[in-house]
Amino acid sequence: MQTLAPVSLSTEEQVFIDKVIATRQGRPGALLGILEATQERNRYKYLPLETLRYIAAKVDVPLARIYSVATFYALFNLQPQGENTICICRGTACHTRGSRKLLESLRLDLGLETGAELGGADKLSATTPDGKFTVRTVACFGQCALAPVAEVNHRICGHVNERTLEREVQALVREHR
Ligand code: FES
Repeated sequence: MQTLAPVSLSTEEQVFIDKVIATRQGRPGALLGILEATQERNRYKYLPLETLRYIAAKVDVPLARIYSVATFYALFNLQPQGENTICICRGTACHTRGSRKLLESLRLDLGLETGAELGGADKLSATTPDGKFTVRTVACFGQCALAPVAEVNHRICGHVNERTLEREVQALVREHR
């Protein structure tokens, strides 16, 4: 059994995680469910390292394994997320229908860094300094017939173009004023 490392989680967070573990442990896919519920409760929709460490100790699974699960699934975030998330598909079908251009124009609209500064245009997760928007990429939404596809706050939008994406962003900006 691993020893509990000192963590900076509040008692409230620890109680929540303990409850989630108690209700899910032993079920198929328990770890994914535990991580998902924990991330959902986080104000910035991410899994801080100390949270992963706490879960690892509680479920008696090595931290490295928990970390590899959290990094494998696109659903999980290891960095704080913006109030709004826009996800651009960079799969083959979407790429051939112009998703790179969509991504670039979205980044310009939001004033995010260029691909070179982020270490490549195809795998991206970046948040605006004001914390309003996170732009991410995925490998495929499984909706290739609708290419190019974007997801705006978990809503799938098919056949998007630069203009429709810009309108989506503007609507969100107005909503959050
Ligand atoms: S390649 Fe974009 S949805 Fe499949």
